[in-house]
Amino acid sequence: MEKNRPSWSSRVTFILAAVGSAVGLGNIWRFPYIMGQNGGAVFLAVYLLLILTICFIPLFAELVVGKFTKKECIGAYEAINPKFKFLGAMNPITGVLISSFYFIVGGWILNYIYLSFTSSKITDYGAYFGSFTQSALIPCILTLVFLFLCIFFTARGVKKGIEFANNVLMPLFAVILVVLIAFSLSLPNAKLGLEYMFKPDFSKLNAHMFLAALGQALFTLSIGMGALLTYGSYIKEDKNITKSTYTIIFSDTLFALLAGVMLFPAIFSFGLEPSSGAGLVFVTLPYIFSQIPFGGIVSGAFFILLLAAAITSGISIIEVPVATMTERFKISRINACTILFFIISAISIPATLSFGPFSEFKIIGKNIFDFLDFITSNFLMPLNAFFLCVIAGWFLKIKGGTFIRNRVFAALFDFGLKFVVPITLLLVLYIGLK
Ligand code: PFF
Repeated sequence: MEKNRPSWSSRVTFILAAVGSAVGLGNIWRFPYIMGQNGGAVFLAVYLLLILTICFIPLFAELVVGKFTKKECIGAYEAINPKFKFLGAMNPITGVLISSFYFIVGGWILNYIYLSFTSSKITDYGAYFGSFTQSALIPCILTLVFLFLCIFFTARGVKKGIEFANNVLMPLFAVILVVLIAFSLSLPNAKLGLEYMFKPDFSKLNAHMFLAALGQALFTLSIGMGALLTYGSYIKEDKNITKSTYTIIFSDTLFALLAGVMLFPAIFSFGLEPSSGAGLVFVTLPYIFSQIPFGGIVSGAFFILLLAAAITSGISIIEVPVATMTERFKISRINACTILFFIISAISIPATLSFGPFSEFKIIGKNIFDFLDFITSNFLMPLNAFFLCVIAGWFLKIKGGTFIRNRVFAALFDFGLKFVVPITLLLVLYIGLK
């Protein structure tokens, strides 16, 4: 084991960091709009089913592989079998691709923080969002600012920043969400939003919904790009990885549900379209804020906390290629971060421009931003998760019985890791490629 490897100061720090990685834009920005595009409650039912049955296994396996090998992704796969190192390398590559669109949304948040504190005269937030994202310069600058913030924390080493962000800011964030939920539920027609979210119409069920739900579940839980493997490799002592896994899954799902209950009643009340896509949160929330007393302050607080959640996730995305570059290629942390800044900028800038000047440029019918989101969440993350389960189950031979006391659950875990989860992931990938 490397002498100078970072490690968490305690089990609590580790859990906070892992929850910080999971809870982010995926819960508040991505979950509501993917759900809106996929028919509401049926999607939620499929999503929860996948979270409760399938997702525990790859999440747990990533942590165990990291903890067991104590290496970054390539080294971890290589330690299990040297032939697997290329599969390991797919993780940091996926990380770079994810960060290239994730950080654009981080830039949008910065803009909305600014808006909260200026007395803007916006009346049509839908039109505003459209014109803002199309205006090339400001979104590009803000993407780079957000990228810089994440790189800055990563370059300093993650312990202190992450600990603070999660200890203090996350509970505060939950409180603000609850206040906004109370407001949203008090709006006329709020009931329609709740029905949309919780009254499934199973006739709408289709195969692509499974792909979207699985992509979202992996994305929101940070599974399938080595973030949890890397964080797991910094664990010194955690005898109860099972409990840590539950904590991560529970917190993440709670935040996603809170976000939904905050947004959908308001969406229906304001007569907005739930399927309107990536701008959903950035259109609905400003409407809410414009209607409530002290809306500017609440809005500022909300977006600042969302920024904190996005940064803790952003750090975990960047930590994956940083760990690989520092440990494997012996590049100093600061140099690795600088190099990454340029690589990610080179992909992010065209992706940011894909809402404006580059909007005509399409890959498989999608603009660059949507393509990066699609290819990572619906293809690379499931594929990486598939390889991880196969390697952990068949080669590292992780046994549920070593971690899980209940014999039945342990046996189910073994069967799931070796058969059910890899086959499900393959099936879903097949549906996606068809
Ligand atoms: N889980 C994060 C979110 O929901 O915002 C996004 C993310 C972080 C994806 C880390 C992947 C990852 F490795």
